[in-house]
Amino acid sequence: MFELTAETRVAELQAESAAMMKVLMSTGIYREGDNPDVTINELCQSFCLHPRILLDPLARARAAEVPSTVDISELDGMTLTQVVENIETSHHAYLRETLPVIGALLDRVVQAHGAGDARLTELRELVGKMSADLENHMLHEEEALFPMVRDMEANDGKIKPTRCGQAVAGPIMCMENDHNILKEELVRLRELTDDYAVPGFACMTYRNMLEQLSRFDEDMLVHVTKEDDVLFPYALKAQAALRDGGQVPIVAL
Ligand SMILES: [Fe+2]
Ligand SMILES: [Fe+2]
Repeated sequence: MFELTAETRVAELQAESAAMMKVLMSTGIYREGDNPDVTINELCQSFCLHPRILLDPLARARAAEVPSTVDISELDGMTLTQVVENIETSHHAYLRETLPVIGALLDRVVQAHGAGDARLTELRELVGKMSADLENHMLHEEEALFPMVRDMEANDGKIKPTRCGQAVAGPIMCMENDHNILKEELVRLRELTDDYAVPGFACMTYRNMLEQLSRFDEDMLVHVTKEDDVLFPYALKAQAALRDGGQVPIVAL
């Protein structure tokens, strides 16, 4: 089984995880064509760095990596406006309905069982933070990127100024950063709930809370993958194409 240590070779990272390779390449200490048999320790030594400086972000990237089983094939053949509508109606609406329900269930579970389990208190704080961050994040998407995308398709590339200007790259950078934080928080959510395993003593409310959290996790992975892997790259491609007199592309997966 793969284990990330200072003695791990770049070739092993390549075989294990695209997300870890992306982080490594972004540091600039390993480039395309360099020797893949070099270890992380050797790489760091050659730049007078402690291996921990590289190991921590690599471990975070691996933990936050979206499993390849996430299915977003329903977006195939859609226009970008249809992708945006799919995200709003399937995921933003779901989150606005579900997050207050999960919050109320958590309050009741913490009241009943919190005294004997410090993880439940941390769980409530984490979900509270994620809910507040997600509301801001969705508003940012709905008030900046989504109108820009709709404008690109409806008005031949003429984008009305939004709270983030008229270039899609600005909000996309913020949103990718938010997604990385959210993915790390989902990893912590799984740790705090033992992957949503129902303890023997759990009452109906406790079971319901775990079911809702598990569904929230699944939905978040699909939602974020649709945006990271389809909406963001296609919006960037569309804006570049329109600048060159081309057309907004249709999604082809
Ligand atoms: Fe979203
Ligand atoms: Fe998002």
